[in-house]
Amino acid sequence: MKKDFLALNDFSKAELDALFALTAELKAKQKQGIEHHLLKGKNVALIFEKSSTRTRVSFEVGVYQLGAHPLFISSGTSQMGRGEPIKDTARVMSRYCDGVMIRTFGQEIVEEFARYASVPVINGLTDLFHPCQIMADLFTVIEQKGRYDGLVYAWVGDGNNMANTWIEAAALLGFELRLACPTGYEPDAGVLAWARGKGAKLVLTTDPREAVAGADVLNTDVWASMGQEAEQQERAKAFAGYCLDDALVGLARPDCLVLHCLPAHRNEEITDSVIEGPRSVVWDEAENRLHVQKAIMATLMK
Ligand code: CP
Ligand code: NVA
Repeated sequence: MKKDFLALNDFSKAELDALFALTAELKAKQKQGIEHHLLKGKNVALIFEKSSTRTRVSFEVGVYQLGAHPLFISSGTSQMGRGEPIKDTARVMSRYCDGVMIRTFGQEIVEEFARYASVPVINGLTDLFHPCQIMADLFTVIEQKGRYDGLVYAWVGDGNNMANTWIEAAALLGFELRLACPTGYEPDAGVLAWARGKGAKLVLTTDPREAVAGADVLNTDVWASMGQEAEQQERAKAFAGYCLDDALVGLARPDCLVLHCLPAHRNEEITDSVIEGPRSVVWDEAENRLHVQKAIMATLMK
């Protein structure tokens, strides 16, 4: 039976660990120039209903490095933009392609796509989740710290798709996650309830200082995600005091890592000095999108 990657929860801890191991292997091969055409001759469609820099480029390059052919499809220039149903698009794409990555709005869209597709489907970001990004983030932590477990993770900012996916990761992988979000901008209630049911070690607070105190990994993201641009001003007011600055970083462990999925709005959710500073690993984090997604594609589509 085909397997999809719509949320981290589609994989067990053992399967996620296997993905990290394959990521390390593929990254080493790519760095050494060793061919790794695990998807030789295949075709992978990359559908975008939202903008992208990293996801588009890392998937296109990754598909090519695996010996396959990437097809970039923007919904606006396909029949999807003119209202062709998701379930029809999914069945048609499955007749041409060996796998599909889709970036869209509702999680239910990727779920419907996957239900009708006969090939593996990967979530390249929805309003609810961004699983490829959290895989890259965790792989970056593994590279820097030798492990992801036994560390304290802090999220400062919006309870958005990134925060929700971190909550999934905490529940599946067992690490402590502290989230500081303003009132009214908490993570998804359903995801929180699910994670708590799994015994996840979660702390929810409105105080960024409480979240970052003694933490090993600090993470933030934009205050207005794609689709929320009209709320930018109102959000900027609600998020005052949630900027990841040197004072906040100073409360974390001295050897902490600072993550940001990018794109960043400097001096809104993160200061220039923090993102450019010695604790920031955001460029490795961005690069690792390429390597983890190759592992995901190779695992699902070979
Ligand atoms: N982090 C991330 O997904 O970036 P893009 O929106 O540029 O793909
Ligand atoms: N939360 C952001 C992440 C962008 C990669 C968004 O959804 O726009």
